[in-house]
Amino acid sequence: MLGVCYYPEHWPRERWAEDARRMKALGLTYVRIGEFAWSCLEPDPGHFTWEWLDEAIETLGQAGLKVVLGTPTATPPKWLIDQHPDILGYDAQGQPRKFGSRRHYSFSSRVYREEARRIVTLLAQRYGQNPFVAGWQTDNEYGCHDTTRSYGPEDLRAFRLWLQARYGRIEALNRAWGNVFWSMAYRSFGEIDLPNQTVTEANPSHWLDFYRFSSDQVAAFNHMQVEILRQHSPGRFILHNFMGYTPDFDHFRLAQDLDIAGWDSYPLGFTDMDVLPCTTEEKLRYAHTGHPDMAAFHHDLYRGVKPRWWVMEQQPGPVNWAHHNPSPAPGMVRLWTWEALAHGAEVVSYFRWRQFPQAQEQFHAGLNRPDLEPDLGFFEAQQVAQELHQLSLSPSTKAPVALVFDYEADWVYRIQPQGQGFVYRDLVWHFYQALRRLGLDVDLVPPGASLKPYRLVVVPSLPILREAALEAFRTAPGTLIFGPRTGSKTEALGIPPQLPPGTLQELLPIKVTRVESWRPGLTDTVLWQGQSWQVGVWKEWVESGLTPVASFGDGKGAIYQQQNRHYLAFWPNREFLQHYLAEAAQRAGLTTQTLPEGLRLRRRGNWVFALNYANHPQTVPAPANAHFVLGGPTMAPYDLAIWVEE
Ligand code: GAL
Repeated sequence: MLGVCYYPEHWPRERWAEDARRMKALGLTYVRIGEFAWSCLEPDPGHFTWEWLDEAIETLGQAGLKVVLGTPTATPPKWLIDQHPDILGYDAQGQPRKFGSRRHYSFSSRVYREEARRIVTLLAQRYGQNPFVAGWQTDNEYGCHDTTRSYGPEDLRAFRLWLQARYGRIEALNRAWGNVFWSMAYRSFGEIDLPNQTVTEANPSHWLDFYRFSSDQVAAFNHMQVEILRQHSPGRFILHNFMGYTPDFDHFRLAQDLDIAGWDSYPLGFTDMDVLPCTTEEKLRYAHTGHPDMAAFHHDLYRGVKPRWWVMEQQPGPVNWAHHNPSPAPGMVRLWTWEALAHGAEVVSYFRWRQFPQAQEQFHAGLNRPDLEPDLGFFEAQQVAQELHQLSLSPSTKAPVALVFDYEADWVYRIQPQGQGFVYRDLVWHFYQALRRLGLDVDLVPPGASLKPYRLVVVPSLPILREAALEAFRTAPGTLIFGPRTGSKTEALGIPPQLPPGTLQELLPIKVTRVESWRPGLTDTVLWQGQSWQVGVWKEWVESGLTPVASFGDGKGAIYQQQNRHYLAFWPNREFLQHYLAEAAQRAGLTTQTLPEGLRLRRRGNWVFALNYANHPQTVPAPANAHFVLGGPTMAPYDLAIWVEE
């Protein structure tokens, strides 16, 4: 259940056996290696030094560890870049991004596809049947450092081919994009450029297709690697380590090729860097713990991306890359590990075994210090290993609430926000936090997933509503709550002929005739059940035969409902949602509670986990006669408790 990331190439060989022995003694099962090792494996073109990796795998395996071998394609060597500079990705200003860090390649480079194919094939042939290699990681963190979209000649070439395959005829593209506007018509696919660096905004349909294309390129690059690994390494799992909120490519789609979704969890860095936005007050309060919904959101997202999922990299101490890098509070490494398991993780693997005292990450803690002594995270990992040894976890089950999450929605609102405050990530985050504060477990699911198992479904916003998603809504037995701008766009990013919410009108007879976006400070009130709420950012004017269940200050309808379907015609903030969703959940037969600051709950099978992110003790919301399997009725700061639900 526990693992670690290790870089044998960073340490003298004499140390490997001792490291491996100590990993095993700590209670670790998996060790991931190799993902940045290309120049150590092929220091000169065609000249290979496999022998060190042979020995490293053998040493780790003989110590009883299972190896996850990374393909080294995130770091092409210098000689390769010098031979083929067209491998490099280009920034949006059209400048090549240079060698000297990592991820310096474009997914569309033809040469790089072939070079990646070559090195992955050689690795897979050499280690694919190795008894100590349990599985593979493809590349490392696709999209990291803003590398999904690239604006070079190779990208342009591939984009034109992609457009041709999608539209067939140039007339079809012109029609779909509305190129009659501003004289933008093209006569052939060869005339189309990338959408960056236009005088004013480029056609949003042009951007959206470029985003879709870029997402497809990542999936195709990964697919190429997976095919090779499957051919030469039967019976081994394949995973990729995804990141904190990185919506630039469709993870649901890419993960169709994987067995396991891995993700890399750095709660402190994410809180400091607004990976999901936090207020200044929250950043201070949770500086040493991470925001209490930060890791949880991603656990729930990646469980939706793939039922089998790991935390491939778990923060073990301070990191180096955020604006500020505090130390985790004592107990947090243990708490984060347990939290991942509570959400259903199969494995939690720490990043990294030992802090490396050179280069970019020299300030990044590991389980061990550079002087070879164990660091604080080591002892917390050890405690979890011992606790796990005494318990057998029940299998994870579906949550009662689904949140429909859509990568394309993020692209649509990034391209055309129509008001700076309309950020998809923030809207999703409001819904998610509101549900979690009510003590509810949440599954994040893609549009089109069956909604039959859920009592309550929230759709923060789904601008492009395809038939599969509509069908899932049609047949959903639970309560459905749609946020603003759902159904507001056609697939080509136009306004639907019947006006928003487009085809959703079949399920809810409303028509949005005008929308407004507001700068911070502009607000309206929403009157609901005798209470009034200040709302801002976004307001819709709705025509409908239905009587609204809530109205704005000017009397216009703000919320509409027909049977089990609700529509919110404004930007709902977290405070409003917490009240609205509490009532909807209770009506749907769910029990809610209002959790105190810093306390969260999560169920795994019939085990209930309580996690204390607060710096003070908290009482566990368990029944008086609860049977505790870990901890007890009072949690110390940064502690947890687990009890069995009757
Ligand atoms: C991850 C990455 C690792 C390491 C780590 C540092 O993004 O996959 O290689 O850089 O961050 O926190």
